[in-house]
Amino acid sequence: MLTSSVRWGGGSDERPYLPRAISVLAAGDGQLSFVLEVVGPGTERLVELGAGDRLRLLGPLGKGFTAPDGDRRAVICGGGIGIAPLAMLQHQLLAQEVELVALLGFRDGAHAAGAKLLAGAQIATDDGSVGHRGLVTELLLAELDRDARAVIYSCGPPQMLEAVRAISVASGVPAQLALEAPMACGYGACFGCVVKINDGSFRRTCLDGPVVSADQLATDWLLGEGQR
Ligand code: FES
Repeated sequence: MLTSSVRWGGGSDERPYLPRAISVLAAGDGQLSFVLEVVGPGTERLVELGAGDRLRLLGPLGKGFTAPDGDRRAVICGGGIGIAPLAMLQHQLLAQEVELVALLGFRDGAHAAGAKLLAGAQIATDDGSVGHRGLVTELLLAELDRDARAVIYSCGPPQMLEAVRAISVASGVPAQLALEAPMACGYGACFGCVVKINDGSFRRTCLDGPVVSADQLATDWLLGEGQR
């Protein structure tokens, strides 16, 4: 959870912004790296920060990805800004000598420049300017067709995650999905981040996730996402 120490919100009589939940891209040598995309005033403020500016950070929080069991390989499937935690995952899996492929989807060629955060990724773009023209989930289907001995690791826009969830359930290939949700506290107190699971109850994305198994999600989990 990231917050600028100063100018976090409007004037003195206005509400402050909530902290922003951001996945770590890389950690080491006393440094943490994040990828930010400006989508509103909070992220705009964060990207304004320069060297020496102060930042509040709460974390690490929640549950992350787990390495594949047995002889399954990892099939990484990500889109947009959601590729940041997948870059860290790839780094860790390669260090464990796990066999893997990476599939990344972007809106266009400009956004596809982010693919360099992962090694050797196959790319899909909506406009076909880089790589496969179409959806990254089309690359995923082809990859599973080639070899279904896999665990899918996914992070990206909710519609992409829903497509991956459906592919996982239909194919029986397990998938770990890193969900995004609006968060206020980040540690389980506010219930602002709940997602519906398949027994009809709700789980907090910040505490029980953000990584959840695809087969645990309710088929209408995305409806709840859209209603927030
Ligand atoms: Fe507060 Fe999850 S962000 S409970």
